[in-house]
Amino acid sequence: MTIAPTKKIPSISVAVSANRSKLQCPILQARNVSVFYGSFEAIKQVSLDVNANDVVAFIGPSGCGKSTFLRAINRINDMIVGCRVTGQIHLGGHDIYGRNVDLVKLRRQVGMVFQKPNPFPRSIYDNITYGPKLQGITRRSELDAIVEDCLRKAALWDEVKDRLHSSAQGLSGGQQQRMCIARTLATRPQIMLMDEPCSALDPIATGKIEDLIVELKQYVTVVIVTHNMHQAARVSDRTAFFYLGQLIEYDKTSTIFTNPAHKRTEEYVTGRFG
Ligand SMILES: Nc1ncnc2c1ncn2[C@@H]1O[C@H](COP(=O)(O)OP(=O)(O)O)[C@@H](O)[C@H]1O
Ligand SMILES: [Mg+2]
Repeated sequence: MTIAPTKKIPSISVAVSANRSKLQCPILQARNVSVFYGSFEAIKQVSLDVNANDVVAFIGPSGCGKSTFLRAINRINDMIVGCRVTGQIHLGGHDIYGRNVDLVKLRRQVGMVFQKPNPFPRSIYDNITYGPKLQGITRRSELDAIVEDCLRKAALWDEVKDRLHSSAQGLSGGQQQRMCIARTLATRPQIMLMDEPCSALDPIATGKIEDLIVELKQYVTVVIVTHNMHQAARVSDRTAFFYLGQLIEYDKTSTIFTNPAHKRTEEYVTGRFG
């Protein structure tokens, strides 16, 4: 894939609203993005587009920069002392590194799910309503509706509907992770970032999350980091292969796994290194 370097990325606001009719259009555009830790360049001049309502997998050997690039998309890297991002990332046509960007709003639009489920030590209900309450939603009926809607979308409603006011930490690991996905959905993100979301889960819980990711496409765009190539093949529409901080190849997942353009990609997906 080739992306011509651009100074200004054209607005895609029209395309984003067309997202409802499932047109393929980029919701996220990264151009020449580099991420430095001090003088070390962990991500090198990466450009890629993510289409709305796609699932995109980031694969590559440990330390190649997958998490670093993911964290550039919601500016969590800003919290790391000595970390610097150059290049452009546009979300829905807006430069997320532009002046006056509201980071709280950005992180609502770009939700994140981590390796280990991280429920707050509160009830399931309180976890899900935490974000909406911060946004000023106080009506009980409205909060109830959000809780049910998000838990249904996260394929967890039937398992927890009778224990919404019990501690979220009493759920199994897989249920906790689905609850974290529901909690993220409650702030109505445009994109959900997932950094190895199944790495702490058993195979059955992993299968449920994978099924869920495919379902989530109806509502949100998903970018998932995974070291599990079967997982990437099962859930994603497009796959980006990173190696030593470079984006080596980004294409349809079927192409990456069956007919990659680069030798390094082929060696990685066939398990010859990693
Ligand atoms: N907070 C940090 N400070 C300094 N170097 C880091 C930090 N986080 C990651 N790195 C380095 O950046 C590179 C990419 O790391 P990472 O993005 O975690 O890779 P991956 O997620 O693909 O395993 C590695 O060399 C790693 O050691
Ligand atoms: Mg990582």
